[in-house]
Amino acid sequence: MDGPSGSGKSSVSRGVARALGLRYLDTGAMYRAMTWWMLGQGVDLADPAAVAARCGEPVLVSGTDPDGPAIHVDGVDVAGPIRESDVTGSVSAVAAVPEVRVRLVALQREIIGAGDIVVEGRDIGTVVWPEAAVKIYLTASPEARARRRSAEVAGTTAQAHQEAMARRDKLDSTRKTDPLSMAAGAVELDTTPLTLEEVIGEVLRLVKERT
Ligand code: C5P
Repeated sequence: MDGPSGSGKSSVSRGVARALGLRYLDTGAMYRAMTWWMLGQGVDLADPAAVAARCGEPVLVSGTDPDGPAIHVDGVDVAGPIRESDVTGSVSAVAAVPEVRVRLVALQREIIGAGDIVVEGRDIGTVVWPEAAVKIYLTASPEARARRRSAEVAGTTAQAHQEAMARRDKLDSTRKTDPLSMAAGAVELDTTPLTLEEVIGEVLRLVKERT
């Protein structure tokens, strides 16, 4: 399940995994966890060489339970801190560093290799697991995406989210290594006019049809 921020990937992926009794992996959380660790270490995130030099150090452990996906860095539960604005504002710079991607993609492939899983990210269908049985590219209008995100985060406006998301999407889709793009053979689903239940229903239909 790939797509830009706020397109509904997490809610849809978790809902589909629950409905089918599958595991679930949030690859964005892994890039966020790496960013959280770099910030704590005082690494200069504007310097890709500095990020590359340190990215092998933290021990990342990702849970795969759709009801409460855990993520630990060096034994510390970071599920809360990785959603803070300092991490969100810096994650695209860290995720653009090729050495970071090589390391995290290897970890992701190890987890996916155990089978039966719904995986969300930006490059899952294109790079991480192109042989996936079902590939979905979720989209939604910028307004709908910002509205959903501001409903999730108390005290924030849709306008501020729309600007921040546009910045992040631009970085994610124009970077040199593994940019966000729709995979060959992916089904594009525009979630703008649909409820969460409708999107999950459509994905379940596609899964049934293709597996
Ligand atoms: O999905 P989420 O918004 O948590 O992802 C955070 C960031 O991690 C994205 O903006 C992107 O920079 C990066 N990312 C990525 N590749 C993935 C998943 C996320 O580059 N597969």
